[in-house]
Amino acid sequence: MCGIIGCFSREGCYEKLMEGLARLEYRGYDSAGVALLSEGGIAVRKRRGGVNALAGPPLAGQTGIGHTRWATHGRPSDANAHPHAAGKFALVHNGIVENHAALRRELEGQGAVFASETDSEVVVQLIARLYRGDFFAAVSAACARLQGSFALAVLCADRPGEIVCARRKSPLVAAAGGGALFVCSDVPALAGLAEYVCPAADGEFVRIAGGRVFFCDGEGKEIAKVFSRLPEGSRAETGGGTFMEREIAAVPRALADTLAGLRGLDFAPCARALRAAKRVFAVACGTAYHAALAFKDAAEREADVTVLCHTSSAFRDRAPRIGQGDLVVAVSQSGETADTLEAARLAKSGGAYLLSVTNAPHSSLAALADFGIAMRAGAEVAVAATKSYNCQLLCLYALAAQLAFFRHARFPAWYRSLGALVPAAREAFSAFPAVQALAARLAGAKGMYFIGRGQDAVTAAEGALKVREIAYRFAESCPAGELKHGTLALVEEGFPVLALATERALAQKCENALAEVKARGGYAVLFSQYEEVLSASCADAAIRLPAVPEPLMPAVAVIPLQELACSLCLLSGYDPDRPRNLAKSVTVE
Ligand code: M6R
Repeated sequence: MCGIIGCFSREGCYEKLMEGLARLEYRGYDSAGVALLSEGGIAVRKRRGGVNALAGPPLAGQTGIGHTRWATHGRPSDANAHPHAAGKFALVHNGIVENHAALRRELEGQGAVFASETDSEVVVQLIARLYRGDFFAAVSAACARLQGSFALAVLCADRPGEIVCARRKSPLVAAAGGGALFVCSDVPALAGLAEYVCPAADGEFVRIAGGRVFFCDGEGKEIAKVFSRLPEGSRAETGGGTFMEREIAAVPRALADTLAGLRGLDFAPCARALRAAKRVFAVACGTAYHAALAFKDAAEREADVTVLCHTSSAFRDRAPRIGQGDLVVAVSQSGETADTLEAARLAKSGGAYLLSVTNAPHSSLAALADFGIAMRAGAEVAVAATKSYNCQLLCLYALAAQLAFFRHARFPAWYRSLGALVPAAREAFSAFPAVQALAARLAGAKGMYFIGRGQDAVTAAEGALKVREIAYRFAESCPAGELKHGTLALVEEGFPVLALATERALAQKCENALAEVKARGGYAVLFSQYEEVLSASCADAAIRLPAVPEPLMPAVAVIPLQELACSLCLLSGYDPDRPRNLAKSVTVE
């Protein structure tokens, strides 16, 4: 949610700033802006719309900051776009200043005149008020008065070549490379721009000054840090089509890379936690939550351990009494989702062992965890998670297998077949023409239901989320066994119900549910890897899935659903990469 970037380059920073900003757009795209500091002072260009809306002659300056916005306080408009300016300062901010109303009243009482409705402008007005000639001291003093979350970058007209940044909860990294110094919300946006990167810890400040980038505390005392090479795979998928199409096409490659990483991963450091955990929790949001549900199913079946699976926000709301001997598995593609991070912090502060599954090795979640499992999905730009979901499932299957091994000295039978997911994912693409035809058939539908039993209930939930998110259709999921307990009332002539049947033992029951849909005039669609299930079905349309060992099927079965949502979205003329009202990384509560 909102991306911030800062850059210092002796050759001029405008081009680099704009390039980074374009890459940050998936964090928010309702307005964008830059501010550059040159001898003439600070020049600001900001507009409602995407980064393209900023087109114009390059702004001069070696030092600059930029922002892509996902509106929280104040609707998208030119005035509410960042950077915000006051006195000698310009500022970009990601996060939420919770005490903005009280601060605004106080500052207005002292004569400050606000130009926007944002919580962020309060910060730059405060800095301007507190400035007594020491740039860093003014930013640090202002931060001390803020409640809430922030990553911010500030320019001061008196200090050419300097950027002062601060981090509380919202992500921030420092980077260097290509003759330039950077601060940025995340690592993927720096791919191709920087070579070395180092994340800021909570409460730290980052400064660019005197031709170097360094970290310090609120007093300005420097903190020693080690920069590491920008991770491979930080680059976005290239090729034709939208990012979402490319990311679906990259699923086999992402699975192969993730598998290679898993093969080299030594679980010994977390063996004790896996063996002895009294309780196992899994926390995540959105698509990652569906992966966590799949983990619960796999771990409970294979390791005979109860997994308590919560959305991160619900975990926070109820704050279950976590203690030593508990294992908390936090799943997050970005590793920066605010609710998941807070849930992870809760778990850590309670004394639990924290295990992360993330696609971002430099993320806040990875830094917090006692042990990390890295997906190697590569940068995921489209807001709708696709390849990262397949990779989350793969990592979590591996974790369920390790749990089984450490608790019962045996790996599940399917453990050796994880590699089969790669060719199966490729084979799933052969169903795409049929899936696209299905999308065309469903294009006129206002809504649809996804159903499944057992592990398929989770795949159904993920399919429905994808359709809601990018095709803007009412789409829900329902365990197939629950259909006749209420939801069936929605089924009328032509109403689409899409069923998944990847568990042979449950397929007949799922088929019965579809028959009940058909009997009420519904349009029934069946997805299965079993020819006999497909041919015996009464469904109006049937999509054959590639076969892998049954417990691994969710990682394959979801692929046609990802494609279905993408096709529906494109057929409706929407942009799958930037669905309305959403952003990729939900870094605010
Ligand atoms: O980065 P995370 O995995 O923590 O993100 C969690 C959700 O915000 C995310 O999965 C969201 O639901 C996706 N946009 C769904 O496609």
